[in-house]
Amino acid sequence: MYYKIKTYGCQMNLHESEKMAGVLEKMGYSPTEDETQANVIVFNTCCVRDNAERRIQGNIGILKQEKLHRKDLIIAVVGCMTQQSGAAELLKKKFPFIDIVLGTANLDQLESAIVARTKGKKTVSIPQDSTMDVDKTMPIARTSYPNAWINIMYGCNNFCTYCIVPYVRGRERSRAIADVVADVKNCLSQGYKEITLLGQNVDSYGSDFQDGTDFVTLLSEIAKLEGKFRLRFMSSHPKDFDSSVIDVMASCDNICNNVHLPVQSGSSKILKAMNRRYDREKYLSIIKEIRAKMPSVGITTDIMIGFPGETEEDFEETLSLVREVRFSNAFMFVYSPRKGTPAAKMEQIPQAVKKERITKLVALQNAITKEISDTYIGKVLEVLIEDVNPKHEGTVCGRTESGRLVTVPGSPDLIGQFVKVKIAANQSASLFGEIEE
Ligand code: 5AD
Ligand code: SF4
Repeated sequence: MYYKIKTYGCQMNLHESEKMAGVLEKMGYSPTEDETQANVIVFNTCCVRDNAERRIQGNIGILKQEKLHRKDLIIAVVGCMTQQSGAAELLKKKFPFIDIVLGTANLDQLESAIVARTKGKKTVSIPQDSTMDVDKTMPIARTSYPNAWINIMYGCNNFCTYCIVPYVRGRERSRAIADVVADVKNCLSQGYKEITLLGQNVDSYGSDFQDGTDFVTLLSEIAKLEGKFRLRFMSSHPKDFDSSVIDVMASCDNICNNVHLPVQSGSSKILKAMNRRYDREKYLSIIKEIRAKMPSVGITTDIMIGFPGETEEDFEETLSLVREVRFSNAFMFVYSPRKGTPAAKMEQIPQAVKKERITKLVALQNAITKEISDTYIGKVLEVLIEDVNPKHEGTVCGRTESGRLVTVPGSPDLIGQFVKVKIAANQSASLFGEIEE
């Protein structure tokens, strides 16, 4: 018996797919890449932007034929997309051949849903519930050695006006510090070398505890664990990313000097309309402090263009912020209205304008990324080898502390090792070099 999980969206989803893989493997299913061989196909969905949502719907639609030939194939649709109000019903109307619909907060019910389906129940739909007991543990089939992802919190309280996440993932719930630390220890004892803490807004970890435990407490607890490993986290929110986080990052060797700090826009007017609760000056002052305390830091960001009301001047402010900060890389998005969010009701920007702006922004950031890549040539950097690089035969790849991808000639037995690499060349954000003996 085989399963295939198709994951869309963020790191959080990739990790949730590892949890569902854990459930399926416990049930006796093995992973396969071949859909025609799979007995269970799971779509782990994302609804943050409309292009992801359209792609998922297209891919579910393709399975209609497969399902006609194989009546016993189980198709499950889980995750964010199913949590939007009325979405589960709509999905089943559009794709009546779906067997199981589960939300983000009840993934642990995948097993019982599959059992019920195999016993002949027609379709299984678990009503949405975004208040999952955060201590509930699921078996995890980790797929990304030497990296281990660990949830530290679920949900979001911020209600940025463009964003659907708080509606589909509920309010912030932090996991108990002892549980998170136990998970980290467990991964380290299994030989994992890099731990990434996950949350929609990790900087507000613990704000629901009322005992003073916060993100800095958590980072310090983990950083003092024995052994050589790296600690990363994502995502941060500029309104909560304060000096205490920067100080603990700067003072602990094993916390990577790598910050993902989504800015979204360079215009204070747009940031206000987005309900981000910081302005351009505040963002730039955080960047200044980060750079002063961690000179070799790599800073990445998320930027959105085409938010309602974004004028040419506002867009120019985004470009000028990008020029000023010089992000080592950026995820750049075209704003898309999400039903039920405040911004969806605002007057929208024409598609042609959005297209022009995203093209300009991407060209600017690509040029900066390349310039920064050039500065690495000749330097020797520590790299944790993570995988083979399928694009270049006989090579493996990994990341620097600051988050840059580096490819070197080598064999898969290097995976999980820290090596020193002399950088010789680059292609955009990717660096290439040789291992120093
Ligand atoms: N349209 C486009 N991009 C969005 N993001 C979130 N909501 C939207 C939307 N409605 C982007 C933000 C966020 C990232 C995860 O996705 O930049 O940081
Ligand atoms: Fe969405 Fe804003 Fe929460 Fe991030 S902080 S998940 S952008 S509402």
